Amino acid sequence: MERPVPEPTPGHTLVRLSAASVSHLDLNVVDGKFGILPDLPSIPGTGGSGIVLASDTHPEGSLVHLRGKALGLRRDGCWAEHALVPDGAVEAVPEGTDPALACSYFSPAGTAWAAIHSVAAVQPGERVLVTGAAGAVGALTVQVAARAGAEVVGVVGRRAKLAHVPAPAKAVLADDLSEEAVGGLVDVVIDTVGGPVLRDALPLVRPRGRVGLVGYTAGREFTVDLADFLLADVALLPVNLMTRGKEVAADVKRLLADLSAGELTLSIERYGLEDLAEAVRRLRTGEAVGKVVLDLT
Ligand SMILES: NC(=O)c1ccc[n+]([C@@H]2O[C@H](COP(=O)([O-])OP(=O)(O)OC[C@H]3O[C@@H](n4cnc5c(N)ncnc54)[C@H](OP(=O)(O)O)[C@@H]3O)[C@@H](O)[C@H]2O)c1
Repeated sequence: MERPVPEPTPGHTLVRLSAASVSHLDLNVVDGKFGILPDLPSIPGTGGSGIVLASDTHPEGSLVHLRGKALGLRRDGCWAEHALVPDGAVEAVPEGTDPALACSYFSPAGTAWAAIHSVAAVQPGERVLVTGAAGAVGALTVQVAARAGAEVVGVVGRRAKLAHVPAPAKAVLADDLSEEAVGGLVDVVIDTVGGPVLRDALPLVRPRGRVGLVGYTAGREFTVDLADFLLADVALLPVNLMTRGKEVAADVKRLLADLSAGELTLSIERYGLEDLAEAVRRLRTGEAVGKVVLDLT
């Protein structure tokens, strides 16, 4: 779809986009299956990065990350060459940062940090099981948990992804999930997959342990026997980056520095705008490894 380049307006920043993240949240919005939806027609894309063309508050020519302020939800998002966004949706990014990383780091890094530190409050020596451990959030959650001093088990749904579970986690196939395969009960599960994977992971948590629920790619629903739930005495806790974004922002900045330096890893699959359909297909089917990003340069 062709649209004119937006005219700069006060309180807004005009950006020439370099890269845009393609996320499950974007797909839920495109499918009309999210609690906040735009009026149509609308440009999707809740995260992007690019160069400032015009702004009262951000230096022209600087590299910025775009997120929040309902971008790609209640207003046009980042799957475009240009975006005019509220100044509050613009964050400076260190010069030299890979634009694909700049557009995509915040959600997985922030969610991983929130899950391990804010929600599950993982302590050194605890055993943490992460599902979808080769995914964007899962792989960073593995690394943040290991840095917190946890012993980590990473669960993946397909054999091909076993090799993509970051060290030093023990990688386990979801079909093989058992107390024996995991090496005994765990203190914490961080589940990025939902559905039957959450159901199968719950019995592996010790009494008084915690489960942080991040996502539901494998299913929005699972049933629980309330008697078993009470007997198990495991807390099921939501991890919501939308409500925790501010509290993790400073920590996530440090994680970006570590990602740029190669001390943490986030796999990124890159696609041109003409390959958007393939990018979406890879994400929808779970074939993608790590973040899926549109190169808009
Ligand atoms: N709560 C929050 O604030 C928050 C923030 C960011 C993301 N999220 C959510 O967290 C989840 C993971 O995000 P992500 O960026 O890490 O995604 P991702 O990289 O695509 O990882 C999701 C993983 O889910 C597994 N999966 C199982 N069945 C699937 C299916 N039918 N389709 C696709 N994947 C399937 C895949 O792992 P296997 O192949 O190993 O099964 C895949 O690697 C998403 O639901 C996302 O919306 C939530």
